[in-house]
Amino acid sequence: MKYFLETYGCQMNVHDAERMAGLLEQSGYDRTDAAADADLVVINTCSVRERAEEKLYTRLGEIKEMGRETGRDPIVAVTGCVAQQEGEKLVKRSAGVVDVVVGTQQVKLLPMLAQRALALSEPAAAGGRRRRVEGLTAIANPYEEPSFPLGVVRRGDPVRAYVTIIEGCNDFCAFCVVPYTRGHERMRAKAEILADAREAAASGRREVQLLGQIVNHYQAPDDPACDFPALLEAVHEIPGIDRIRFASPHPRHTSDRLIAAVRDLPKVCKHLHLPVQSGSSRILGLMRRRHTREAYLDLVARIRAAIPNVQLSTDMIVGFPGETEADFEETLSLTAAVGYHSMFSFKYSERPNTLASKRMPDEVGESEKTRRIVALQVLQRSIQSDLFQRSIGETREVLVDATSRRREWELTGRTSGNTVVNFPGPPEWLGRMVAVRIERAGPNSVWGQPAGPPV
Ligand code: SF4
Ligand code: F3S
Repeated sequence: MKYFLETYGCQMNVHDAERMAGLLEQSGYDRTDAAADADLVVINTCSVRERAEEKLYTRLGEIKEMGRETGRDPIVAVTGCVAQQEGEKLVKRSAGVVDVVVGTQQVKLLPMLAQRALALSEPAAAGGRRRRVEGLTAIANPYEEPSFPLGVVRRGDPVRAYVTIIEGCNDFCAFCVVPYTRGHERMRAKAEILADAREAAASGRREVQLLGQIVNHYQAPDDPACDFPALLEAVHEIPGIDRIRFASPHPRHTSDRLIAAVRDLPKVCKHLHLPVQSGSSRILGLMRRRHTREAYLDLVARIRAAIPNVQLSTDMIVGFPGETEADFEETLSLTAAVGYHSMFSFKYSERPNTLASKRMPDEVGESEKTRRIVALQVLQRSIQSDLFQRSIGETREVLVDATSRRREWELTGRTSGNTVVNFPGPPEWLGRMVAVRIERAGPNSVWGQPAGPPV
């Protein structure tokens, strides 16, 4: 039996997909990279924006079409945040394409439900189509059943290991679906986190990425003295790990102790992804972000003073209900003032259950949202390109995380600050640290030449 798994959304979802892969392989499935060969197709979904959700329906249409062409009829499972949000409705809406729906807290049930769906369906007389049974749905209320412990993981990345430290969020920002799809904030035991990180190091992963919706809100349930900076120190002690990243910190929990930990712990990458969402304090208030423009800019100034070589990135939303031209101008001026190395920017879209969807009419028109996002992205591109240009001639430590072959072998990796660097080198350098001299800058990454042997 073969399974095909594709995943959308954030790193936590990617890591959930690694858990699903681990469980399926433990149950005797082999992975295939071709959906057309699979007996089980798993789509691990994201619901954070309308467009992310639409991808699911597009994929289901393609899978149905593929079934018609090949005569195969795999079991189709939808997992992740859309599964959590929509539950059984997905089975009906997909007109029989979806057999199994598994929410974010029930990952462990996936192999069993896939087996049951198979056992309950029968081969059709012709054309290979099975007689469908009703969909099998497993959705647990994340307020009642947290998904820890995480179980078997089949890590998909040879270099980077994801380690979830917190799941869920209690902040309920007005636009955000995550508290509804992931539930309230639960902290994982420090002992489990360190065991995961040690296992990752023992398996040769040189980078550990600590994950949580508000990762820097961490407080160990099994050690009252261990907050997030203390956890960074503990992970830092583990031999074999050379880089530690984390996503995503919340600006209001970015304390001076955390800034000092990023500055002082050499393995902790000099990169902070600090979601701001808007440059206008008025809109931030409506968004219920609990930080203001002024507090954010002050935080950025403190971070830059402490860690001059730090690289910052962010998330930004344009067209939130009530956003005026003046508010948007503040988003542009904050973007220019901070000088982000990268930005994820989105047009606001209503998400189910959220405060904004219930109380705030989506009133900025689509064409205006498009105008604003284009203006923001043009600005961000010019800032980025300027920063990349300035790095030409510098030599940076790059951890190689991917290889590709065009005319010659090309390696890709990231600097401590999270800039993507491309350079020529043999595929055996995957997972090695290489000093690379930057020679050329593109819009989203830079190119260079190795300046010495890998370590
Ligand atoms: Fe969503 Fe806000 Fe929680 Fe982030 S802090 S996950 S944006 S509710
Ligand atoms: Fe998407 Fe769920 Fe992550 S909504 S961004 S996959 S927590």
